[in-house]
Amino acid sequence: MFRDIEKVLIPREKIAERVHDLGAQIARDLQAVLGDDGDHSGEVVLVSVLTGSIIFVADLVRQLPLKLSLGLVAVSSYPGKSVESKGVMMRSELPRDMAGKHVLVVDDILDSGQTLDVLSRLILEQKPASLRMAVLLRKPGKARVDVKVDYVGFDIPDEFVVGYGLDYDGFYRNYPEIATLRAEVVGRT
Ligand code: IMP
Ligand code: MG
Repeated sequence: MFRDIEKVLIPREKIAERVHDLGAQIARDLQAVLGDDGDHSGEVVLVSVLTGSIIFVADLVRQLPLKLSLGLVAVSSYPGKSVESKGVMMRSELPRDMAGKHVLVVDDILDSGQTLDVLSRLILEQKPASLRMAVLLRKPGKARVDVKVDYVGFDIPDEFVVGYGLDYDGFYRNYPEIATLRAEVVGRT
């Protein structure tokens, strides 16, 4: 795995620091809508967009001292060896119980914006009390659709990245930093 990495864009200490700060900000914002005790049962649902967000979500939820439930949704847009979005495919159903709840959708990266655009439309159909979206990474200027993301960890250049949950062809999710791959590893499709 290590020899396939070209360069590290965001080292693990930077990621940890930023996730800590994002967690504090999100917790403050949710506490503000939840009221004083911050413990109105079941009012916060965090939706993790599989598979890329798992490591980010695992670190982020532990920074949120709130009563929340964790839902999952599987979406794929980069099948196999793709490095460009091939259109959004829902691979599982959304959690069904979001009416009246404060929903926080967490994804790894905002690229074309299609994934979060599709998900936010479907979630809004369930009439949540509020909807927020958080991404670890964003490639500025790439979004083809106008989607409003409330929390962004880092803006990165328009390069294909792996690590900390992000994959190429299913691999490198366990690489602990955000990095690019050597050109000979990435068969452009
Ligand atoms: P969007 O729908 O184009 O915004 O793409 C979002 C999804 O594409 C993310 O959740 C990732 O799974 C995947 N993706 C986009 N850019 C990258 C990248 O640079 N590396 C790995 N996966 C990516
Ligand atoms: Mg994804």
